[in-house]
Amino acid sequence: MTQDEMKKAAALKALEFVQEDTIVGVGTGSTVNHFIDALATMKHKIEGAVSSSEESTKRLRALGIEVFDLNSVSEIDVYVDGADEITEHMAMIKGGGAALTREKIVAAVAKTFVCICDESKQVPVLGKFPLPVEVIPMARSYVARELVKLGGDPEYRLGVVTDNGNVILDVHNLDIIDPTALEAKINAIVGVVTNGLFAHRGADILVLGTKNGAKVVK
Ligand code: A5P
Repeated sequence: MTQDEMKKAAALKALEFVQEDTIVGVGTGSTVNHFIDALATMKHKIEGAVSSSEESTKRLRALGIEVFDLNSVSEIDVYVDGADEITEHMAMIKGGGAALTREKIVAAVAKTFVCICDESKQVPVLGKFPLPVEVIPMARSYVARELVKLGGDPEYRLGVVTDNGNVILDVHNLDIIDPTALEAKINAIVGVVTNGLFAHRGADILVLGTKNGAKVVK
């Protein structure tokens, strides 16, 4: 199986966690794109979706799935999203696609977070993938200096503006021994909107695409 086939296998398997007549939380990225395509096959059985990015919203609507504003939804049963890295403790780095803030908001509302990814995303320790941090544009240099004090090497993601009108700093070489503590520490820097550590609210279920097909890890 190629990496994309493993992503697709995980995405299809995740349909098992979608309950009929509910609003589904939908993440962002190439793995989620497979999930959206799969969700379209049961679109008449669900009420619709809440989306974590303009990109996913466009894809959902193009396939005839209604997209609700999160403010009009009181409850999300399941949120399905990919990850750039995930540990055995279900802590993740996300934000490779710059959608981390909306992803974190929808994940916070959802009862269950189902992470879908291929096996290359499983790591013993987070941090090889540079940690994305969404920053208010005028605070970019200040936040970068503060991130250096934490031991990281921030790099401005050129040409990228988030759906919220902000910029992204990708932080290399961070030693992420305690993801929950680092998540809180970075979020406390003035000018940071959020960072791509999903440890305080990690995944509840991992659907992993492997060479032998998709398997569910809880
Ligand atoms: C989007 O901002 C990210 O959090 C994605 O969930 C993550 O980058 C995984 O993307 P792929 O499914 O494309 O690997």
